[in-house]
Amino acid sequence: MENTLLLIKPNATEQNAVGRILAMAEENNMVIQKLRMFNFTDEIAQNFYAEHVGREFYEPLMKFMKSGKTVGVVLSGDNAVKNLRALLGNTNPEEANPGTVRALFGENTRRNACHGSDSAESAKREISLIFPEYVFINKNKDGLTWFKRFTKLSGE
Ligand code: CDP
Ligand code: MG
Repeated sequence: MENTLLLIKPNATEQNAVGRILAMAEENNMVIQKLRMFNFTDEIAQNFYAEHVGREFYEPLMKFMKSGKTVGVVLSGDNAVKNLRALLGNTNPEEANPGTVRALFGENTRRNACHGSDSAESAKREISLIFPEYVFINKNKDGLTWFKRFTKLSGE
């Protein structure tokens, strides 16, 4: 069993394709473990795509990822990392195999509908960014518990 991170990007949420993409993952032996809809902040987007800083597509990619709602999904299954990448298809939708998510819902190389982690190690890093843990930090005088996030996310 392995976990991977699926992101349903703003151009796919705009197309009302969230349910169809989740169904494709479920029909391909992946199980939804966590799910949330959010808007990327600068901080999270920069961290998420740190490997691409300096590339010619970096700034437009940041702008696109912040342009609308994203759905974050932790999927589990045998070979989930590889299976999800195969289900998504090529980064460029024009080169993606027929029937793949990017062939069906991708518009171009940037607006390509979904992200899938490229290794189990990337999946761990990406999951911790999109699904940060709550940590106990303090109790106030009334004994009420206070919680703080490692990383602040918008949309909540
Ligand atoms: O997402 P994937 O791992 O298939 O591709 P990547 O090479 O890691 O690029 C990350 C994301 O940057 C892509 O999914 C595209 O949304 C975007 N991108 C872009 O806007 N223009 C490119 N020439 C290449 C990638
Ligand atoms: Mg990648």
